[in-house]
Amino acid sequence: MTGPNEGIGGDAPQAIRKLQPGRLVIASHNSGKVREIAELLGPYGIAPVSAAELDLPEPEETGTSFVANAELKALQAADLSGLPALADDSGLCVEALGNEPGIFSARWAGPARDFNVAMSRVERRLEQLGPETPRDAHFICALALAWPDGHVEWFEGRVDGTLVWPPRGTRGFGYDPVFLPNGEERTFGEMDPAKKHGMSHRADAFRQLVAAVLD
Ligand code: IMP
Repeated sequence: MTGPNEGIGGDAPQAIRKLQPGRLVIASHNSGKVREIAELLGPYGIAPVSAAELDLPEPEETGTSFVANAELKALQAADLSGLPALADDSGLCVEALGNEPGIFSARWAGPARDFNVAMSRVERRLEQLGPETPRDAHFICALALAWPDGHVEWFEGRVDGTLVWPPRGTRGFGYDPVFLPNGEERTFGEMDPAKKHGMSHRADAFRQLVAAVLD
């Protein structure tokens, strides 16, 4: 696997593999995500095909990091389709909670995927640690781009902020209403979506991917 840390530890850095124009599988069954990625990559001559269109199975996310989960999804889709494939994995890391919920961010919302439950759970855990507990948090987005021969390039984007309580705003999704990005007055739940999309962990990861494999 290569990625932002390649070369650390004395290995000679390997050349980053460029993505050639053509079909790219988006290894996600979330149609909103597939559409967003298609819009971002369209100008580079990339024709996205969704995992659902190809009837690809959704693998279990058994990795212990965002990058590992993105990588296993991308590798499986590339292997089964014979095409390059892109997958992502993202979540909220709360520093005082040892970076939980992290890769379990969706699971903290329970089977009903209720993010009021997930946000309350985070808040309760912080309150248990006392009023002086730092409320720093960050979102991470890992992107993995895999080819059928097993080569992978990966990128990790991040946005830092603090957690507010009670939740503010009804825009966005997931943990957006409690996340106040550093230097901003509005939470991701209150912010104009275009502004969020320009400064988010996902935007950061995509900027890195475009600069490395497309430009
Ligand atoms: P996944 O990468 O689609 O599996 O998303 C994991 C979970 O992380 C989501 O269900 C959300 O709970 C959380 N998450 C990821 N990105 C964001 C974001 O931009 N805003 C709010 N929550 C997010």
